[in-house]
Amino acid sequence: MLIHNPQASHAHYPAALRRILNIHRGDESRRWLAPWPLLSRRATPLWSLPELASRLGVAQLAVKDESQRSALGSFKALGAPAALIRLLARQNPALDPARLLRGDYRGQLGALTVISATDGNHGRALAAAAQTVGCACVIVLHAQVSQEREDAIAAYGARIVRISGNYDESVAEAARLAAAHGWQVVSDTSYAGYEEIPRDVMQGYGGIAAEIIEQLAQAAPFSHVLLQGGVGGLAAGLASYLWEHYGSQRPRFIVVEPVQADCLFQSALQGQPARASGTVDSVMAGLACGETSPLAWQVLQLAIDDFITIQDSDAVRAMQTLAAGARRDVPIVAGESGAAGLAGLQRLVDDPAMAAAVGLDRQSRVLLINTEGATAPALYEQLVQESADSVSRRQARWLLANGY
Ligand SMILES: Cc1ncc(COP(=O)(O)O)c(C=O)c1O
Repeated sequence: MLIHNPQASHAHYPAALRRILNIHRGDESRRWLAPWPLLSRRATPLWSLPELASRLGVAQLAVKDESQRSALGSFKALGAPAALIRLLARQNPALDPARLLRGDYRGQLGALTVISATDGNHGRALAAAAQTVGCACVIVLHAQVSQEREDAIAAYGARIVRISGNYDESVAEAARLAAAHGWQVVSDTSYAGYEEIPRDVMQGYGGIAAEIIEQLAQAAPFSHVLLQGGVGGLAAGLASYLWEHYGSQRPRFIVVEPVQADCLFQSALQGQPARASGTVDSVMAGLACGETSPLAWQVLQLAIDDFITIQDSDAVRAMQTLAAGARRDVPIVAGESGAAGLAGLQRLVDDPAMAAAVGLDRQSRVLLINTEGATAPALYEQLVQESADSVSRRQARWLLANGY
């Protein structure tokens, strides 16, 4: 299903939104994150896929590959750590934010415990950042989070609390535990009275947009950017940065969600932050969110032009397409949520009326964000019928053969 958002604006980036998210703070977060040994020293690749572009009937298709951001496997490596730095700096202005992720204050911060609910990637990033800076971390997991995702979080020293409910119940449980023990919630989603930290998480994602702008150099901006939606933080973090940079020339932003976890789609229908209409559970674990982040929605209600929902099977097909590559297209390891942008694009071009409705044609220059690699490697192998290691090896051979 596709809907257009009549509230979307293509005027200059509004001052009201600049007070929430802005390039200045995004760039500051980027500088403070840079020394973290867990982040790649180089910008993540911006791949061009000319054969897939021609199959889909667009002029250009680019994929910003966040699977290569960090050993943590996803773009979330930019969010929780950025928020943790700002939290610690607020609590103790004598700390130098640029030194926190170097571990220079380890031994001084053990009294702090941070806690969050997660469907996997945010909790993994928070656990790893807490370990680096030297504070304690508790992660609350809902029933659907797989054992391999739990193990990946526990590997960074976090204490795991498992509940029998869903993602939204794990968010409530994290808030309850924090209040009971005097712990600090570092969540990627906002709720009434809790906005500062989720804002800092979203601001951390702005670094992806900054790199895209640098990588494009003098080339024209993309005409369309597809952004996958969980609670809305990724979409808000990237769209706000690109909008502030390009102003009225900004791309058309399209949010893609699983049909059963369509909280942003429903928010667009209702004109306010809303709940998903379905069961929420999806193979796209990172997008399996039932409630919109109200703070993210303040940005999205003006920034996002269209909202589209996809099936789990669409995401699996997109994972396979990216893994396959082609003679002129590099093979890419994209996890279930990572491939959702391509799944949305495939849906749009499969239906000429939908493609026309969002202005997709042979002149379109489309950007997708591969937000994760194989963050659940066993599931990846089952869905793609090839291991992520094997796809990575084919990628390495392709790069060699193509002079990279
Ligand atoms: C891989 C991946 N992509 C996209 C998202 C969506 O991000 P957000 O919840 O900020 O909308 C998530 C969220 O966990 C994720 O893990």
